[in-house]
Amino acid sequence: MGKLSLGSLLTSCFIHKGINTHPQPRRSSATRVSDHGSPDQRLSCHDISSPEDLSLSSIGSNLYIFSLDELKKATRSFSLCNLIGEGGFGPVYKGFVDERIRPGVKAQAVAVKLLDLEGVQGQKEWMTEVIFLGQLRHPNLVKLIGYCYEKEHRLLVYEFMEKGSLENHLFKRLLGPLPWTTRLQIAVGAAKGLAFLHEAEKPVIYRDFKASNILLDKDFKTKLSDFGLAKDGPEGDASHVSTRVMGTEGYCAPEYIMTGHLTAKSDVYSFGVVLLELLTGQRSVDKTRPNREQNLVTWAKPFLKNPDKLNYIMDSSLDGQYSTLGAQRAAALAHKCLSHSQKSRPLMRTVVETLEPLLELDDIPMGTFVYNVMDDNGGENEDTDADANANANAKQNGVNNHDERHKSRFPNSSIHRATSLKRKDQRRNRRSE
Ligand SMILES: Nc1ncnc2c1ncn2[C@@H]1O[C@H](COP(=O)(O)OP(=O)(O)OP(=O)(O)O)[C@@H](O)[C@H]1O
Ligand SMILES: [Mg+2]
Repeated sequence: MGKLSLGSLLTSCFIHKGINTHPQPRRSSATRVSDHGSPDQRLSCHDISSPEDLSLSSIGSNLYIFSLDELKKATRSFSLCNLIGEGGFGPVYKGFVDERIRPGVKAQAVAVKLLDLEGVQGQKEWMTEVIFLGQLRHPNLVKLIGYCYEKEHRLLVYEFMEKGSLENHLFKRLLGPLPWTTRLQIAVGAAKGLAFLHEAEKPVIYRDFKASNILLDKDFKTKLSDFGLAKDGPEGDASHVSTRVMGTEGYCAPEYIMTGHLTAKSDVYSFGVVLLELLTGQRSVDKTRPNREQNLVTWAKPFLKNPDKLNYIMDSSLDGQYSTLGAQRAAALAHKCLSHSQKSRPLMRTVVETLEPLLELDDIPMGTFVYNVMDDNGGENEDTDADANANANAKQNGVNNHDERHKSRFPNSSIHRATSLKRKDQRRNRRSE
């Protein structure tokens, strides 16, 4: 069957006859996932080969399997005003599910991610996401509520994260510059998410740690999203997993790029990059900066171990309102995470233990720091934040083609670079990976 574009999907949603191929909520009492931990025997990608396998497994019974028609109702027919973001997988819409859409479902705001069938990611990433997030539960991982597969269409339904991504706040400054303490809290939450993955009974390597994959709830609590590139950690005596190099330029560990050898320490390096972004307010790669400053790590790393020079690279929008000691310790930690030698990088548990006490430091100079916090009046607030995200997206989505939009937003993403060059190869290789 030929591929359908987003437009044809919307049309097919519109003419959908309302036949729900999965009319009953597929949630059984046999749930094996605890609320804060990994399941007893987590299934791996090689245990599941099709969406049908998925729905028959314990993963399917943990999640709602929605029909396209239900998700169309939840998102006002994937209306443009519900569009809250767009990445390599496809567009993301805000929606709302309740009893009227699916009996038994908790009434809640959701984010619905729709695979762009002409885009740069595909079925494999969709399955990987469902397999990992359908089983892993932790306060610092975004909750997958359900999924949809009908014909070639693939969708994912998540809890709605009101404040969107760290990328939007740090670089697009939707609500003004992020205060120092909020930056630290975000770093601690993200570190806890990674530590959980690395220390699970069957460890997980996240592989795509970056500012746009760190989502924030209404209180700026951090949750990691996007498990489409995640991998099971090495088994037995193996020191690493061998895999094709996937991820985003500027965040990937150098040894992983050179050898394709993936370890939990690759995630630690990426964490170091995000910590550096939080300190400096600069993107990991920015082609608009002077040549020697375009790669953030190359430019800023030498300053990290020199307390006297740290203020040269600190985000000027903080206006000096940060704990000097906290910034020095965070900078020294970022330096360790960014070590060339993986052995010198700390474990994520150590990262958490180093960062958390920095929240207690009270040497932040007082000043007039303006940060716009939306007032807390229910749905209105949610809409306002979603609108802000949608507006930011609308601004940058001047072109209609999804690939073009993604390329313009993520010029360094090796996902689309690789895909545009080697799309057929990737599909061929997917099974062998
Ligand atoms: N659960 C969610 N709640 C609220 N907003 C979300 C949610 N998931 C995604 N978004 C929004 O949609 C945007 C796009 O997310 P997506 O993960 O598809 O792409 P990305 O991370 O920006 O890019 P890439 O595909 O390169 O990883 C996010 O930056 C965020 O603003
Ligand atoms: Mg993402």
